[in-house]
Amino acid sequence: MIVLGIETSCDETAAAVVTGERAILANLVRSQTAEHAPFGGIVPEIAARAHLECLDSLIAEALRRAGVTFDDLDGIAATAGPGLIGGLIVGVMTGKAIAVACGLPFIAVNHLEGHALSARLVSDAEFPYLLLLVSGGHCQLLVAEGVGKYRRLGTTIDDAVGEAFDKAAKMLGLPYPGGPEIERLAASGDPSRFALPRPLLGSKDCHFSFSGLKTAMRRAIADLPQPLTKRDSADLAASFQAAVADVLVDRTGRAIEIFRDLYPAGDTLVVAGGVAANRALRSRLEALGVERGLRLVAPPQNLCTDNAAMIAWAGVERLRLNLSDGLDFAPRPRWPLDPAAPAAAGAGIKA
Ligand code: KG4
Ligand code: ZN
Repeated sequence: MIVLGIETSCDETAAAVVTGERAILANLVRSQTAEHAPFGGIVPEIAARAHLECLDSLIAEALRRAGVTFDDLDGIAATAGPGLIGGLIVGVMTGKAIAVACGLPFIAVNHLEGHALSARLVSDAEFPYLLLLVSGGHCQLLVAEGVGKYRRLGTTIDDAVGEAFDKAAKMLGLPYPGGPEIERLAASGDPSRFALPRPLLGSKDCHFSFSGLKTAMRRAIADLPQPLTKRDSADLAASFQAAVADVLVDRTGRAIEIFRDLYPAGDTLVVAGGVAANRALRSRLEALGVERGLRLVAPPQNLCTDNAAMIAWAGVERLRLNLSDGLDFAPRPRWPLDPAAPAAAGAGIKA
């Protein structure tokens, strides 16, 4: 089986070709960072136009590099949500057009499921597994019970963790995306110099909160002589990253207990999403896994940040189950993996 994947939900245009045997034949990502940089954030209209301008040629190049033509494909998978509606429309319309023209099935992929299933593209991880999904828009703990079947154990009550990294980086005068910048700076910093808070540490549920940490970071910066020295910036970045890692490890530790109650034989912890590219975090989770007897599966960095290989793979998984979508499938700006999960704010949380 060979599937073409298309990803346009945020500020990366991506096209990939993946086989049912887990071979990634091509995996191209074109980032729009430069287009958005002058505005200090992602501008949806600019994103949609930029996707439109380069998607066709990116797909052609992906097929060329994979050494296949449209005739060799078994399906077209495109991210249909959640994300910025303009970009989603571009990817979904392109995917549907190719599907119609080539007489192939179209698969509307949930971007979050793409991240969730990326572990099965790179390993033999079997359902059910515990999933820490950490990206620019999401911070969730879920049990992946099967394709299209997720049970959410916890989520953030305010910011997503990637968003917190990006905001902290902005405070330090670093460019977007901030996560890799903070990680680089933190490598030479002292994580114990600033006592930043660890919100919700030790609480009984599996929810997250990052807004208090963000505020504390802003205060710590304001208390220092300006402009910040290199040492101050590095120590702040290291202290921030350590606080985030402590929170993620603590919340995941709590989720492991719940996961074990639900599935005593479950033996795998997966971390996915852009923030999972962070090496400090990966090694902390690895240690947690060893301590609790769970194997950690963390996709390589280029499959953690947004890419189309994970979307093509989600397409493979769905096609295998004879799941495909009609041409009337409308893109969804909001599309939770577990629609039945209660809102975090209603779960008795005190921020
Ligand atoms: O999954 P992703 O590429 O896009 C979304 O679906 O949101 O995640 C992007 C997020 C950004 O907030 C970025 O700062 C963060 O992932 N990120 C990182 C690292 N690389 C990317 N955060 C911490 N450390 C990193 N190395
Ligand atoms: Zn993502």
